[in-house]
Amino acid sequence: MNVQVPFAPLEAETDFAIDQDWAGYSADDHSVWSKLYRRQCALLAPRGCDALLKGLGALDLNSGGIPDFAAINPKLESLTGWRVIAVPGLIPDAAFFDLLAHRRFPAARFIRDPRALDYLSEPDIFHDVFGHVPMLTDPVFADYMQAYGEGGLRALNLDHLHHLARLYWYTVEFGLMRTPSGLKIYGAGIASSAAETVFALDDPSPNRLAFDMLRVMRTRYRIDDFQQSYFVIPSLEALLEATLQDFAPVYAALETAPDLAAEAVVPGDEVLTLGTQAYAKARQGASPPPLGEGDPEGVEGADTP
Ligand code: PHE
Ligand code: CO
Repeated sequence: MNVQVPFAPLEAETDFAIDQDWAGYSADDHSVWSKLYRRQCALLAPRGCDALLKGLGALDLNSGGIPDFAAINPKLESLTGWRVIAVPGLIPDAAFFDLLAHRRFPAARFIRDPRALDYLSEPDIFHDVFGHVPMLTDPVFADYMQAYGEGGLRALNLDHLHHLARLYWYTVEFGLMRTPSGLKIYGAGIASSAAETVFALDDPSPNRLAFDMLRVMRTRYRIDDFQQSYFVIPSLEALLEATLQDFAPVYAALETAPDLAAEAVVPGDEVLTLGTQAYAKARQGASPPPLGEGDPEGVEGADTP
């Protein structure tokens, strides 16, 4: 796999990195982190994939409340060469991809309000660090994320970012994995949400479909509520393998392949669970969403992963 630091110079880091200002967190901030940390660890113990649980163990993310990036980075860097850097919220696509391509993961530094532990209007440090960073300790996933960054820059140039963004959404954010001990979670949007951790694996409402690259890239997603379909990979190795092909022909094929609705099940799908969609139907027209954890990085149709 390609693990050396790639091509172009890294401008995004100097342009967007800010100081985490760890000393600036309040006691309340730290206690929000610790509460969320304990709740998610308990929920994930039986539900997280091995790589996620192993990464959580290796990083020791709750020794003093909110983790100090200066303490995480030596561990992370020695495992896979990745680093976490603080950024001031959402950054431009090209900068985001450039950072990933250089094994830098941009993370928010703010933490959610203690009065609304389950509400997020944009990704906070708990989502970004607890959700994403443990998986970056896995060598295969580490390579996948770097490759995604490189692919993102290509997709931008080829004008197919909306297709590639769906791959990020249904893997990095909301991916499930098939294992000998059943379906497990590796997606950060799930792993950082108490309610979706349970929903994604245990609720009869959503579809659970075998991962297929082209299929995923055709599938719309929801940013404002639990997913209506989850895609299940056989292993991280298989995911990386499937993305090593040149996407230019895949993008070309997508020009004539219509988008699919988030809840669609179509001929050719390998259906692990045919969802009842009962949850989604009951929620129709209701607002705001119950737990607001409709996560992260952008609006469907927009150019953000
Ligand atoms: N192989 C993809 C391309 O040709 C790059 C990529 C790799 C994208 C991994 C996503 C994930 O563009
Ligand atoms: Co995210």
